[in-house]
Amino acid sequence: MTTEAVPTGSVQTGSVQTGSVQTGTVPTPVTGPAAPGESPEAVRERVAALLSRSRARSSGLTDLDDADMQAQHSPLMSPLVWDLAHIGSMEELWLVRDVGGREPLRPEIDGLYDAFQHTRSSRVTLPLLTPAEAREYVDEVRDKALDALHRSPLRGRAIEADGFAFGMIVQHEQQHDETMLATHQLREGAPLLHAPAPPAAAQAVDAAAETHVPAGPFEMGTSTEPWALDNERPAHTVDLPAYVIETYPVTNARFAAFVEAGGYDDPRWWTGPGWAARVAEDLTAPRFWTRDADGTWWRRRFGVVEPVPGDEPVQHVTFHEAQAFARWAGKRLPTEAEWEKAARYDPATGRSRRYPWGDDDPTPERANLGQRHLQPAPAGAYPAGASALGVQQLVGDVWEWCDSGWEPYPGFSVFPYPEYSQVFFGGDYRVLRGGSFGTDPSAIRATFRNWDHPVRRQIFSGFRLARDASPADGR
Ligand code: AVJ
Ligand code: FE
Repeated sequence: MTTEAVPTGSVQTGSVQTGSVQTGTVPTPVTGPAAPGESPEAVRERVAALLSRSRARSSGLTDLDDADMQAQHSPLMSPLVWDLAHIGSMEELWLVRDVGGREPLRPEIDGLYDAFQHTRSSRVTLPLLTPAEAREYVDEVRDKALDALHRSPLRGRAIEADGFAFGMIVQHEQQHDETMLATHQLREGAPLLHAPAPPAAAQAVDAAAETHVPAGPFEMGTSTEPWALDNERPAHTVDLPAYVIETYPVTNARFAAFVEAGGYDDPRWWTGPGWAARVAEDLTAPRFWTRDADGTWWRRRFGVVEPVPGDEPVQHVTFHEAQAFARWAGKRLPTEAEWEKAARYDPATGRSRRYPWGDDDPTPERANLGQRHLQPAPAGAYPAGASALGVQQLVGDVWEWCDSGWEPYPGFSVFPYPEYSQVFFGGDYRVLRGGSFGTDPSAIRATFRNWDHPVRRQIFSGFRLARDASPADGR
């Protein structure tokens, strides 16, 4: 284990957030995606507010000097200036050209910002727009996108109905804002982003508490959520045997016990591919963790080195590390269907909810979302966000690895383009659910599906445990 000098006085105490925008200041009606059945006027107002909030966040995350904007902070990530212009390029493609019916603004740059033409690690070598040019480009696109918003009937064509194209582009920008936040986390140097600490646990909780989920069918996915992406559709019935899922995501203290018990050195806990990845990458602890001579765990978080908080959900672990922990603990990861049933199924009505807490939009009391805090909140901090079954912190805090591959639902159809979801089906990807503290409320739902390679951990990835129900569970 490497030991890193720990600067004194490095614990972050500041409460002024300069680098990103607080969602807590935005009225709740515009925090989430479109509600079913909204009038075109209401959709227009919601879209305009969401677009401007997304842009405020993108601007905060790219308010850096040119060197920081153009640097390759990690081979896993694009230069921030690429993300910014790519956000504009996608907005131009769908809102200005498709919905607005306008000619390309700058056809010669299209190829530079096509994610399929250049790998993340090669983008730094392209003749990209400068930061000033990128800012000017996204402003120009935004003017024309707002014009398209006011002209679109927001009904008729499927892409315009309920403002879908606008919702898709809001979500796309917010997804890149989370990606840019991960780039900030990888960036070396003095801290640029600051945020208040998340709430404490409402009361002392048993971090390993379990919730029983009764056997039976539930509705997975959606056919009615207006801005749900193609991979969340259609709604379909899934019948599951009884199982047990943990009430909270696995915490740092529990994960540290696995590390200290030699979990990274014992191939019994790892699958074949998991052990190979652990050896190849020389993994010894979650990314950004170090241990000092006294055995205290420290982590680097957005440029600040601080003690690892034991009661906070673990993050920056690969699927393989999550799976090894689960096997060591005598449990397993939930499947994607188990995660979604725990999040959505209401035994009183038999319905599946939009969010764990019900059908209403996220609020700061319900979930740690929107970069309001720059870390997960302790287990037990969001009792108001509990699902009908009583499972907590499913939405927000950390993305949760599920033991499911990235596959289409039965009846899937591409909408509106195959390169968002379809081209990734069937690879080695694993599903992640629930969003993180870095995910915007407009870009997460209990049906939302994310995916990544099982070896990735620069994302804000954690997990929770599950197991089959036994007769001893008494249900
Ligand atoms: C859904 C997070 C896997 O970042 O690769 C952004 C989102 N797609 N631009 C990704 C996305 C196109 C996507 N993930
Ligand atoms: Fe993109």
